[in-house]
Amino acid sequence: MTRALAALLVAGLLVACGGEKSSAPSPPAATTPAPTPSPPVTPAPAANAPSGSLRGNPEAGKALYQQYCATCHGPGGKGDGPLSATLNPRPANHTDHVFMAGLSDEHLYQVISKGGASVGKSPMMAPWGGVINDQGIKDLIAFLRQLSST
Ligand code: HEC
Repeated sequence: MTRALAALLVAGLLVACGGEKSSAPSPPAATTPAPTPSPPVTPAPAANAPSGSLRGNPEAGKALYQQYCATCHGPGGKGDGPLSATLNPRPANHTDHVFMAGLSDEHLYQVISKGGASVGKSPMMAPWGGVINDQGIKDLIAFLRQLSST
């Protein structure tokens, strides 16, 4: 009696290849800022002693005034801007004909370009010469003259 014994050899060779690599995260996107173009050459910085007419374009001056001056001097130039209540002395009233008539164009240029402190006034009247160019200051003077009928 023989039992046929089928020997079944199952050689199961499972090679567990632990090659399951976690895929590497993609490198962070390069955040190179766009190269800043060199700033435009400022024509002439607000000069100390500008010559010629100091009255530019009042319409352009009005736009600058709304942008830079109205927070203190008020949109209508009455010295009643949102910040005015916090200031002592208060911002000048640019609609005051008598007051403004007493200030020459040269003085206005100086105070706008170099600030209140440069003419013995409040330093809260900041120097704008580094922000507003020569033409812009002249435009502002023209607008101030229009506001005050001077
Ligand atoms: C942070 C508030 C502030 C801003 C903004 C400001 N001013 Fe003034 N400004 C003053 C104050 C305060 C005075 C009053 C100074 C004083 O009487 O001592 C003044 C005074 C002046 C005067 C009168 C100067 C004088 O000799 O009496 C002129 C002109 C003037 N400002 C123009 C401007 C113009 C133009 C701008 C915008 C480009 C501007 N200011 C922006 C606060 C400001």
